[in-house]
Amino acid sequence: MTNPDGTDHMGATRRTLLRGAVVAGVAVPFLAACGEDSASPSAESSGGASSPSGNGGGGDTSPTSEAGGGGSAIATTADVPEGGGLILGDPQVVITQPTAGEFKGFSSICTHQGCPVDNVSDGTINCICHGSMFSIEDGSVVGGPAPSPLPEKQVTVTGSDITLA
Ligand code: FES
Repeated sequence: MTNPDGTDHMGATRRTLLRGAVVAGVAVPFLAACGEDSASPSAESSGGASSPSGNGGGGDTSPTSEAGGGGSAIATTADVPEGGGLILGDPQVVITQPTAGEFKGFSSICTHQGCPVDNVSDGTINCICHGSMFSIEDGSVVGGPAPSPLPEKQVTVTGSDITLA
C-alpha cells in the first residue's frame, strides 16, 4: 500500500513542478515582449520627424540653373567697333563688325606659326609676330606670310549679346 501512495505523491509533486516551470517559462517571454514594445514607439517617432525637412530643401535649385544658361555671351555688340573688331583671349576668337550690324567671328590664332593676333585696324586683323594681315570681312589673307585664312567661328547676336553658335 505504501508503494502506490509513494509513487503517486512523487509523481504528483514532479508534475506540479514541471507545470510551474512551463508556466514560468511562458510568462517570461510575455514580459520581455511588453518591455520591447514600450521602447519601440519612441524610436520610430524620432526617425520619422527628419523626413519632412529633407524634402523641403530639394526644390530650390531650378532657378539657379536657369540663370546660368544666360551667361554664355562672350561679348556685347557695343564692345565691337564698326569697321573694326574685338580680340578675345578665352575663347580665342576675334569678333568683327565689317558693316553696321553685321558681326563675324574668326579664330584669333594666326595661321602662320600660331601667334595670337594682336590688333584690328584699317580693316585688317593683324599678327605682329611676322606681319600677317587678315580681312575683317572673311578672314582671308591680305598680307604677310600666313598661308591660309583665319578659320571662321560662327557667332550669334541676340539683342546686344554675342555668343558662339
Ligand atoms: S605667327 Fe602670325 S605672322 Fe607669323
